[in-house]
Amino acid sequence: MDFFDFKNIAERNMEIVNPTTPEKLLEVGRLLGLAEGDRVIDFGCGYAEALVLWAENFGISGVGVDVRPAACERAEQKLHGRGLSDRIEIVCGKGADYAFEEGSFDAATCIGATFVWRGFLPSVRAMKRAIRPGGRLAIGEAYWLSDDVPHEYATSEPEIHQEHRLLEWTREEGFDVEAVVRATTGEWDHYESGNWRGLLAWLGENPDHPERREVIDHLRESQDEYFRYTRSWVGWAMYVLLPTE
Ligand SMILES: C[S@@+](CC[C@H](N)C(=O)[O-])C[C@H]1O[C@@H](n2cnc3c(N)ncnc32)[C@H](O)[C@@H]1O
Repeated sequence: MDFFDFKNIAERNMEIVNPTTPEKLLEVGRLLGLAEGDRVIDFGCGYAEALVLWAENFGISGVGVDVRPAACERAEQKLHGRGLSDRIEIVCGKGADYAFEEGSFDAATCIGATFVWRGFLPSVRAMKRAIRPGGRLAIGEAYWLSDDVPHEYATSEPEIHQEHRLLEWTREEGFDVEAVVRATTGEWDHYESGNWRGLLAWLGENPDHPERREVIDHLRESQDEYFRYTRSWVGWAMYVLLPTE
């Protein structure tokens, strides 16, 4: 099994694949100033939950891009079920390869998927090309909670940085941070537990599966990482960025 196979199993009962809540995604929508008829592009959209919430609550339309066929399929089914297929398009492919029309969106978002461009700074650079003058960005990103992270863990996660670096890069790209919507420890626990419960449910249903051992190992490795490192050293927040230069 590859990483995406594990994710497809782990996320079977999850709609939001980040340590956050529908209420916080709606708060981000309000901070983005989303209004009827606005167009939003969401990179690494997963099951399109953010786009659905923003379409139902603010009347947006737009595009979600995700590389994983199983996520795209679930997103499309959800949009169909909610009567939003004509307003939200799902593009199944690498976010960095998607040729969007420059300046054509009121907001560009990337909630927990800056690996699409390998990091926060290149994500801001790429996403800002999508928005109209005065449009906003929202980026969900992990950050180190302190400068004391155990060396072995810090070096294994080269794309995580301290929050002040995210702020510097934001300014370098001509934006200011307008607002931050931060995850609580409880939301981390909820998100991680959602993954574990998905994996454990699959294990319960597949006692003789030839790849069962791999799934058990994946579950235990992710729990080891969470309890040993992530819980103590990694924060997560959504940053709303407004262009100022
Ligand atoms: C942590 S999940 C976040 C999903 C969604 N934004 C949410 O908050 O529920 C990251 C998503 O990025 C997608 N992804 C990974 N690499 C990608 C790429 N190169 N281009 C587009 N999507 C990608 C994954 O399939 C996954 O659905």
